[in-house]
Amino acid sequence: MYQTLLASLENGIYTVTINRPDKLNALNKDVFTDLDKMLDEVAANPSIQSVIITGAGPKAFVAGADISEFTALNKEQAMALAKRGQDIFARIENATKPIVAAVNGFALGGGCELAMSCHFRIASGNAKFGQPEVNLGLIPGYGGTQRLVQLIGKGKALELLMSANMIDAPEAKSLGLVNHITTPEELLSFTQNLLSTINSKAPLAVAGCIRAANAVFDESKDGYALEIEEFGKTFTTEDMKEGVTAFLEKRKAAFKGK
Ligand code: COA
Repeated sequence: MYQTLLASLENGIYTVTINRPDKLNALNKDVFTDLDKMLDEVAANPSIQSVIITGAGPKAFVAGADISEFTALNKEQAMALAKRGQDIFARIENATKPIVAAVNGFALGGGCELAMSCHFRIASGNAKFGQPEVNLGLIPGYGGTQRLVQLIGKGKALELLMSANMIDAPEAKSLGLVNHITTPEELLSFTQNLLSTINSKAPLAVAGCIRAANAVFDESKDGYALEIEEFGKTFTTEDMKEGVTAFLEKRKAAFKGK
């Protein structure tokens, strides 16, 4: 189904592994094509409740855009590449099923940008984050200048963007870039457990949380107005009736995503 991704679906969790370990899972054209396909599959397949994105091998989540594809690009082609990356990462950010990055090693350049486009991030202790583009005479092109500022604030973001310095997992956690740190062995099981908790909640309400939180960073939207709208929408769902009834009947709710 995919050339550069491994994918498996278990208990509603679709685990997607970027699988170019000999190139530290660098993002080339084929990975973008596959990520696009993967997002189509996630939207279309009702058995998929949530997604984990991780990298193959013990060393890297994703070590960036594939630098070997940069050599022949002119300005227009470079802009088209950045647009392609931004569009795919925006699809991840705006997906209405939770997509979580399980960062198992280097998350550099486009890898850090991919992780930041996910709804949140869990890291193994050996993870390293950075935007080393200025080492190459470039800047990030897949949303990194925007999302890094959103996630960790402008001052620290500009320090990392301008210095190309890498940060380790504890520093990433202290900055709010990652939510939890695990051992490499426990990274996937920890992330799966957290997603199992989320998957047991009302899916339409979870989707509403994503839309409302994303509106904070969308100048075309009034986040408070959108929250009112989303709050109202939940009152038309079967799951809201089930959730409230189950609470009053002191039993666990059985949500259907309707
Ligand atoms: N694009 C293309 N190939 C990459 C890559 C990238 N972003 N990152 C790593 N690779 C390749 C290397 O060229 C090497 O391939 P080879 O074995 O065919 O020579 C292989 O992956 C292993 O990487 P290597 O550099 O030997 O591993 P290392 O442990 O010595 O260093 C890094 C690891 C992550 C520090 C180093 O690979 C690196 O700096 N990568 C580029 C990071 C970057 O600048 N990303 C932003 C791109 S815009």
